[in-house]
Amino acid sequence: MNVIFGENAQGKTNLLEAIWLFTGLRSFRGSKERELRRFDTEAAKLSMAFHNDVRDMTADILITDKKTASLGGLPYGASTKLVGEFLAVIFAPQHLDLIKGGPAERRKFLNQALCQLKPNYAKALTQFNRAMQQRNQLLKDAIYHSELYDTLDVWDDRFCSFGSYVISERMKYLDELRPFLEEFYGGISGGREQITVEYAAGAGEEAHTFSSEDPAGIKEELAELLKAHRREDAFAGFTTVGPHRDDLVVKLDGLSAKSFGSQGQQRSCALSLKMSEGFVIRALTGKQPVALLDDVMSELDAGRQDYILNHIEGWQVFLTCCEPSSILLSKQSENGKLFEVAGGKLI
Ligand SMILES: Nc1ncnc2c1ncn2[C@@H]1O[C@H](COP(=O)(O)OP(=O)(O)OP(=O)(O)O)[C@@H](O)[C@H]1O
Ligand SMILES: [Mg+2]
Repeated sequence: MNVIFGENAQGKTNLLEAIWLFTGLRSFRGSKERELRRFDTEAAKLSMAFHNDVRDMTADILITDKKTASLGGLPYGASTKLVGEFLAVIFAPQHLDLIKGGPAERRKFLNQALCQLKPNYAKALTQFNRAMQQRNQLLKDAIYHSELYDTLDVWDDRFCSFGSYVISERMKYLDELRPFLEEFYGGISGGREQITVEYAAGAGEEAHTFSSEDPAGIKEELAELLKAHRREDAFAGFTTVGPHRDDLVVKLDGLSAKSFGSQGQQRSCALSLKMSEGFVIRALTGKQPVALLDDVMSELDAGRQDYILNHIEGWQVFLTCCEPSSILLSKQSENGKLFEVAGGKLI
């Protein structure tokens, strides 16, 4: 348990971001390469020593206009190749959008979690997006060339093949996630309320669940959905249903967490989703991810803070805050370290 504290704008989140980049995934702040380097410099270099569950490793990332990595001192190519070498989950304040934001945030959560676990999912998602764009192009062109509608069936079939795979992988992922999510959220809330999460076809008023879980059944349902929306799609000039419009519905005791959850409940939901992502990684790969928790404790009552600190044992945790609360101080004194950050440096 590493508690990193300091005043605002001293570099706490910067430090977590630097650690996160070793996952090979994009910065959670969405920063461009040039924003990751110190202003007015040409390059930045990150170095890390870590244990990858088998042996001790070192990795470096050089950030210029691109990010290149080396592993164990040897050049390793683009930093995206590091995916799977160093595993982490990150919770930062913007992840509250997982609950408060639109469906795109929740799809991003599913896509990122699945891409870290399954290279095939990343490929299928790319192929699905291509099929969707081609279908959209056809819908646009057909406004002037109505004979093109005759070829729509071909694109619908590709759309449904890749689309149903994407949907069924997301639903399977949720099946893996659910037990961890229910347990962690149940613990955080002291068993006062129950969290549920469902995959929904579509979002908002129109959202409904798929009745089958297997790819073939989903493909049929998706094909019907697509047929039913043909007129609408032709009118809109794009595809209005499919995995690119789906949502994840998070409820507390049957009520939408987005509409009715308190600040603390929403934060607890978002954190539980993120931590469960880590529990799934551990269950499926046997590797223990590192938890990066940026400003996670604010808005949470003592009971919730206490649960978090006691249920991430066995994890290496980096947790930032402005001032460590008494609960945090007692926890870290048992088994951890306290670092102060000022002016971009650990002091
Ligand atoms: N590319 C950059 N070059 C130099 N400074 C930067 C760069 N990007 C961000 N900063 C500065 O780094 C500072 C620290 O940012 P950081 O987000 O890590 O603070 P923090 O300690 O997490 O603060 P808070 O408690 O408010 O979250 C900010 O003042 C920001 O202006
Ligand atoms: Mg910060």
